[in-house]
Amino acid sequence: MLLLALLPSLCFWSAALLLHLLGANAGYSGKVPVSAMVRTQLCIDALQALSALPRFFAEPHDRHLALRPLSLLLGVAAVDLVEYGCHRLMHANKTLRKLHKRHHRLIPLHTLGAYYNSAGEALFTGSFLGVVLVGALQSGGDRPGD
Ligand SMILES: *[C@@H]1O[C@H](CO)[C@@H](O)[C@H](O)[C@H]1NC(C)=O
Repeated sequence: MLLLALLPSLCFWSAALLLHLLGANAGYSGKVPVSAMVRTQLCIDALQALSALPRFFAEPHDRHLALRPLSLLLGVAAVDLVEYGCHRLMHANKTLRKLHKRHHRLIPLHTLGAYYNSAGEALFTGSFLGVVLVGALQSGGDRPGD
């Protein structure tokens, strides 16, 4: 269970570090210190692990390790769609753009900065993601082998 809760974070860190080793951050000289990105990411990691807890209690324990490729694909697509939609909204709306300002201080880009956001932005996007999570749980989840 613990490993599953940490899986999104492990994927993020692996991809970010691989890109880093390939030179994606070479010569980074932005205003945002890498330590601030790492701190933000560790907060996100903790929140992601905590957000896995409802599934732990809602699902039968023998299904925790069930591999459900279609569910995984749909989940990634749903999270991506929500995050993309929220990002677009924050660019289109002046009030919301203020929440999003911190994210765009990160120029040039850095592979550890994908989630370098304000707490307001995390709350905004997180609440939409929460709606998706609750919807998925209420639909009764899914069956192994989907
Ligand atoms: C921008 O977003 C705020 C907060 O969600 C909302 O109150 C406001 O009506 C929106 N403005 C426009 C122009 O959509």
